[in-house]
Parts: sequence; C-alpha cells; structure tokens
Amino acid sequence: MFDIQKKLATRSEEILHDEFGISSKVSFDIPRDTSHGDLTSSIALEVSRPIKKKPQEVAEKIISGIQSMDGVSSATIAGAGYVNVTLTSSALLSGLSSVRETCEPKKASKKSAPVIIEYSQPNIAKPLGVHHLLSTIIGQALSNLYRHLGENVLAWNYIGDWGTQFGKLSVAYELWGKEKPVSSYSLDELLSLYVRFHEEAEKDASLEEKAREASKKLEEGDKTLRQFWKDVIAITKTSLAELYQRLHVSFDLNLGESFYEDKMEPVLQEGIKKKVFKEGEQGALIAEFSEETKMPPYVIRRSDGGTLYSTRDIAQMRYRIDTYHPKAMYILTDVAQKLHFEQLIATCLQLGWELPEFENVLVPRMRFAEKSMSTRKGNILKLEEVLDEAVKRAESLIEEKASDIQGKEREELADMVGIGAVAYGIVSQNRKMEMVFDWKKILTFEGNSAPYLQYTHARACSVLRKAEAKKDIALKKVSDDLALEKGERDLALTLLRFERVLLMTQKDRMPHILSQYLYELSQVFNAFYHTCPILDASEPVRTLRLFLTSLTARVLSTGASILTLRVPERM
Ligand code: ARG
Repeated sequence: MFDIQKKLATRSEEILHDEFGISSKVSFDIPRDTSHGDLTSSIALEVSRPIKKKPQEVAEKIISGIQSMDGVSSATIAGAGYVNVTLTSSALLSGLSSVRETCEPKKASKKSAPVIIEYSQPNIAKPLGVHHLLSTIIGQALSNLYRHLGENVLAWNYIGDWGTQFGKLSVAYELWGKEKPVSSYSLDELLSLYVRFHEEAEKDASLEEKAREASKKLEEGDKTLRQFWKDVIAITKTSLAELYQRLHVSFDLNLGESFYEDKMEPVLQEGIKKKVFKEGEQGALIAEFSEETKMPPYVIRRSDGGTLYSTRDIAQMRYRIDTYHPKAMYILTDVAQKLHFEQLIATCLQLGWELPEFENVLVPRMRFAEKSMSTRKGNILKLEEVLDEAVKRAESLIEEKASDIQGKEREELADMVGIGAVAYGIVSQNRKMEMVFDWKKILTFEGNSAPYLQYTHARACSVLRKAEAKKDIALKKVSDDLALEKGERDLALTLLRFERVLLMTQKDRMPHILSQYLYELSQVFNAFYHTCPILDASEPVRTLRLFLTSLTARVLSTGASILTLRVPERM
C-alpha cells in the first residue's frame, strides 16, 4: 500500500467508528478501469446493511471526511454507493516509490517456519515429457513468488525414483536389452524398452506379474536389481539437470520416493497400533473413511507386503513435519491425483497428526492445438524436443523482426524467447481450466505472449539508453500544478497495482493473475509510449516520463522473472 492509500483507509475507519459506531477494516483499491477514479472503496455497500443505513448515506459521510485531506483532489459517490477518489499529482507520483520497494525481494527471516513447495516430481527412468512442464513451471513460479515476498521457501523435487516402473524396466531389459550394460544406455533407449514392455504386456499379461515380482525384489534389496536401479537413476538425473537449467528451474531438496524407504515401517506400525490401518481384502492394509466423504478405502500396503506410492507419501508427511516444522505445504500435481491427496490428508488426520496448512495445487492436462503433437502413439512428446523446436522457431521470429541483432547476442535472444515462450505459455493460462499448447499463440508478438512482454521491456530499455538515463531514476517531488496526461496517469496507476497483484497471485496460487497484469502493464505502457513523447518533452515532464519508463522496465523484469521468464535489453 502506498502512503495516501493507507491514510484514506485509516481516516475512513475513524469516520465509520465516530459516525456509526462500527469498527470495520476499510481498503481503497486501484480499479482496473481508471475511469472510476484513482482509488475506489466499496465499504459503504458492505457495512450499510448491518447498520440499517443507505449505502449513499454512509458514502457521503466518508466523502465529507476525506475530501479535504492532503493528496485528495476530489472524492465522489458513484453507482450504488462506491467512494471514488481522484488523487493530486504529487500524491499519486510519490506513491510510486512503494513500487520500487515491491520490486526488491523481501528478506526472509531465518526464524520463520518454512513453506514447502513441491513440484516437477517426474517419475524417472524415462525422459521428461512436455506435460511435466505444468507442475514444473507453475511450481517454480510459485516458489519464486513466495521467496520474493519474504517466505522461507523449500523447493522440493519429490522424484519418482522408486516403484513399479523399475520393475517393468528391469523385466524389459532382461528380455530384450541385455546385450549391453545398462550404464551405457541412453535415456531414449531406456524409453524404447519401456514402451516395448507396455506393447508386449498387452498381449502377455504375465509380464505385469513379472514386473511386480521384480519391484518387490528390488525393494527387498536384491543386489543386481539395486545396481540396475542406480544406473538408471544416474542416466536420468543427468539429463534432468540439463533441462532444469534451460528452464531456470531449481530446487533446494531432491529427496525422492526412495529416500523414504526406511521411514515407512514406523508409520505403518503407528497406523496399525492406532487401528487406523486395517486388514482389507486379501491381506492388504487399508485405511477407511466415513461414508459421507464418499472416498474409497486407501490402500497402504499391498497384500504381498510391498509398499506403495501412498505408503511413501504418509512417511513423507511425517518426515517433513518432524524435520522442518513447515507452516505450509503445497504439492503440485496433475488433477488425476486429487483423490490420492484427499485420502492422504484424511489418513494423516485419523492418525491424529497435526498438519500445517496444506494444498494439493492442481494443474490440468495439456491439450495440443496441433494434431501432429497429440497423436504420437504410445510415445511421450519429449520436452527436450519441444524446447529445441521453440528455440528454432524463435530464431526465425528474430530474423524477421530484429535482423540487426547478430552473433552471440542473437543466440542468447533466441534462447530467451523460445524457452521463455514455452514456459510463459503455461503460466499465462488459468491452471483451473484446460490448458492448450499452441505454437501460434506462444511465439507471436500479439496478445499475452512472452515475445510481447520481452519486446515491451526492450522498448523501455531502448528509450532509457537513448536518454542516457540511469536504470533507476529517482523522482523529486512534483508540484500539484503539473497536470498529468491520461497516458501518464494510467501508467502510474497500473504500476501502483503491482503489489496487490503479487499478493493476489500468492493467495490463490494462480500465476496467471500476475501474467495477466504484466500484459495489461505492457499495453498501458505502449499506449503511453505512443501518446506521450518522452525524449522530446521538456522538463520536468521529460524526467517524469523517463521515471515512469524505468519503473515499467523494473516491474516487467521483476514480474517476468518470478514467472521464470527472462527479458532482454534489446530486441
Ligand atoms: N511422481 C508423481 C507422478 O509423476 C508425482 C508426485 C507427487 N507428489 C507426491 N508427494 N505424491 O505422478
């Protein structure tokens, strides 16, 4: 909140208290549509009913009390009882110093309990598919955001390095791949083995049984299988690290499922002792839930004694709570895992555990606009290939629009634009709706795309370069006689919304809110650029416009980097 925003809220709270005897929190927000004034509050509408007054009456009292405040140019009633405020030029512009602070990452206090954010979590032994991007990029964006806002984030990659896929792979290797050592396999070759397993298992059901046996043996510590497992993990981890680097994704902890191998038995015993885990059909261990939850039983241990994904997740919860005492835990997964997590949480509660704030942050499935991408049978669409293709496409875009950029700079730009476009294509979409991957929408200068934002940032930088202005211009107090033009006023107000947008994005854990804002800011800046000449303006207007330009560049690059997107200085 900036200065005058706070003062208006406090003053209005006093008025409500003095005039109507109520204590109510008031906020003045910047409306998206600036024709509604600079700041607006719906407080009169909210409190009028319980105190049996007309909203207009409440609004009028507030208005008469704030009208003559320093910084207020006018206050009016609108619609059914909104209080709309127009600020003086100096009050508006001095508020902008708060935006510069919002661009600085807040320091996390060492003492505050951490927030665990778990994302990406691929099942290794096969290459990353493009669908893995959803959890990976949205998770990284949330992790960046929480960190920016001063939280102690523990970014956690709970790799699927344990479980039936290794059983399947080892059976396939025994049958069709033994002619060379596993360690010399490439990830693609491993994938072919895996795909072949699935094809053959359709014809021969005994293969699945063999795979289960192998998993069980691996779990029991069979030496050959353990070595096989280690080799496969080494192959996948190397390629994973490369991909994460390209995507600007990083983790604090890479503790995967196998880490919990020795941590399951104690929780199994606890559950049995507390009679939460019971013997179900054919000797499996299950947890059951009350009828109204409509949740089926949760299988916690297989009838053959083998542990499961669920067993490891229960152990994982216990371990994280005991080790880190987190204040919150957010686990990103595909919507298909919703039930699993509902059962997991219900089970932990039955065990009597005290849990931190928890959300299974769901990401949807991805649909491909192009047929050729969605019809690859049996095979996954490999992330690496999609990224390579994106960089290639970005190169031709640059060729078209910025042919003067050459050599190394051009290579870097193609990388920034191509990879950025793919990642931004995801964070710019509402994760609660179906997501679409469409080359035409992500690699274009139109609409809410990475190239559009990058271009706008480069444009702002180019103005500053030409003015030989410092990147971080300070603004001296402006006189209220300086009447702001619409382009300037709109830009200032849009910049002032940044902080609230970050908080809203955090509250809903929906990065597209921030993305939508950056798009609006770019549009408002481009309108300002076209209607308000910057370099040819005379003082003090010129400095003011350069200041607005530099602040726009800061907000764009801060917001974009939270969303994992890099923005260039030249384009
Ligand atoms: N590896 C799992 C998968 O790919 C996702 C893991 C989600 N996290 C968890 N704690 N279960 O399906």
